[in-house]
Amino acid sequence: MAQVHFRGATKRYGAVLAVDRLELAVADGELLVLLGPSGCGKTTVLRMVAGLEEVDEGTIVIGDDVVNDVAPKDRDLAMVFQSYALYPHLTVAKNIEFPLRQRRIEGEDRRRRVAEAAASLGLTELLGRKPAQLSGGQRQRVALARAIVRDPKAFLMDEPLSNLDAALRVQTRADIVALQQRLGTTTLYVTHDQVEAMTMGHRIAVLRDGVLQQVAPPQELYDRPANTFVARFLGSPGMNLVPASVTEPASVTEPAPGGVPAPGAAPVPVGPPGDRVDLALAGGRLALGGEAALLARKASSLVVGVRPEHLAIDPAGALGARVVIVELLGAEVQVVCALDDGTQVVVRQGADRPRPAAGELVRLAVDSGALHLFDAESGVRLAVGP
Ligand SMILES: Nc1ncnc2c1ncn2[C@@H]1O[C@H](COP(=O)(O)OP(=O)(O)O)[C@@H](O)[C@H]1O
Ligand SMILES: [Mg+2]
Repeated sequence: MAQVHFRGATKRYGAVLAVDRLELAVADGELLVLLGPSGCGKTTVLRMVAGLEEVDEGTIVIGDDVVNDVAPKDRDLAMVFQSYALYPHLTVAKNIEFPLRQRRIEGEDRRRRVAEAAASLGLTELLGRKPAQLSGGQRQRVALARAIVRDPKAFLMDEPLSNLDAALRVQTRADIVALQQRLGTTTLYVTHDQVEAMTMGHRIAVLRDGVLQQVAPPQELYDRPANTFVARFLGSPGMNLVPASVTEPASVTEPAPGGVPAPGAAPVPVGPPGDRVDLALAGGRLALGGEAALLARKASSLVVGVRPEHLAIDPAGALGARVVIVELLGAEVQVVCALDDGTQVVVRQGADRPRPAAGELVRLAVDSGALHLFDAESGVRLAVGP
């Protein structure tokens, strides 16, 4: 077991900057998920750790050693691929024992280790079969058994569940988590699937175009995304994002000190200047107070983020919208709405709530404590969320 440390690790393919100055430390025993869309550089990161790609700049440290110039076979890592990469002409037993043969581990020791690895993945009955005689799920379990049959410094897993059907994916996901927990082996796990990342990772590192966006435990990533990209990528669907501008509060008034204002008297704003602001967005207004108001003043133009579960259809809501489509998902309903400026947002509500019809005009209430504020220009987070 070992920590894996990237220090400014960079990889170019010609003009393509696949991984850009990656700074990341995977702790000893941690299961860290690398998450991002296709082409963002996830596989390249794994291949750099494995030694299958040269590092153009920066260093990669495994344990206490800089491994940039260490041959792949000497890095003591076990890799699991989407494609399983089993030897078709070898039995399950021979596939699993392959890494032990390479290391000249023989006799009773080898036999025992293969039996243990096979048993821990429910493969004992299948040891005599060839890969062609196995289902996809069984093949991937053989690949996992081959990874755990020795005690490598780290596991590198590249979308190992992608070829499995939905039910098997959920099962195998749980198996990998349990296995990793039992063995305590440092694991770098790559996926483009945010649900997989949320359910498996101790922490998640989000990549976009080769650039690390944020590293955090799953809940923190969901609750405090560092920018609009992470906000949208996490959650299904992701966070609603609506452009907004900051204005002085227009409608918030309070009786003048000393009693009821005389008819026709000018409204008196609440609190000291800067204490409150309004956000103008999509033809409506949202009142902000406290820290959010102070932060909103820092940016000339904003993007307001709100998760689907923090929007509600409510006649008293601040925003006007037209229902585009209503999607029933069993226990929940997703209502896709177009705001008055055309921006589409998704409202998530329980299936027991009254359901609007497509085309209906509704009002949307925003849980103002659950707002996320981002700078419109950079997309970077401005304010605290829920
Ligand atoms: N061998 C290669 N030659 C040229 N470009 C490559 C090669 N491998 C990957 N790339 C490019 O590098 C970027 C990152 O690819 P990759 O690491 O495979 O992303 P991911 O695994 O996240 O889908 C992509 O733009 C991809 O096209
Ligand atoms: Mg890949």
